[in-house]
Amino acid sequence: MKLFLDTAHLDEIRTMWDIGILDGVTTNPSLVSKEGKKFEDVLREITALGIPSVSAEVVATDAEGMVKEGRRLREIHPSIYVKCPMTSAGLKATKILAGEGTRVNMTLVFSANQALLAAKVGAAYVSPFIGRLDDISEVGMELIEDVVQIYRNYSFPTEVLVASVRHPIHVLEAAKIGADICTMPFAVMEKLVQHPLTDIGLARFLKDWEKVPKG
Ligand code: G3P
Repeated sequence: MKLFLDTAHLDEIRTMWDIGILDGVTTNPSLVSKEGKKFEDVLREITALGIPSVSAEVVATDAEGMVKEGRRLREIHPSIYVKCPMTSAGLKATKILAGEGTRVNMTLVFSANQALLAAKVGAAYVSPFIGRLDDISEVGMELIEDVVQIYRNYSFPTEVLVASVRHPIHVLEAAKIGADICTMPFAVMEKLVQHPLTDIGLARFLKDWEKVPKG
């Protein structure tokens, strides 16, 4: 499973990229708004690190506007995936952009039927938002199970990108189901690394090492 960071914050991206566990980055207008920088500058900084997949969202709500924005975003860097929302206009724009060879990440997906449509119009990624489903007392991970099964049934090449991830159990469950990608906040990725028994074990090894005769 590929691990993506759901952030537009360069320091967070650089930290995980330098460790070597990062496969991509997803952004959205809310995340970009926290950075206080121009959208295109944020994208240029992230892509300059060499991140192979960077999702950037359109803000137009009509198909023509989405296609226009998508074409502009695609020109910024070959690693850019254009995020289009799951609306009729978004489906139409995705079909056009995908037909031109642009990789589209269909976002704001909350049902398996929406995911089916995203695959049919040629989206490269589909992004079901599991945390937001959990928030309204629906089990978000059941949607991932359904989408993975549907895509396998028909051998759709669209990759399932688990989004709106809130904690490490989401990552674990997504991996067990066989989702292609999981995007998460920096704090969640940090928690994947950490275990208290690792820290305790390392401290003990280092203490015992002090007793080993040197020289
Ligand atoms: O980037 C889309 C998604 O991951 C947003 O997550 O936490 O705002 O529901 P969240």
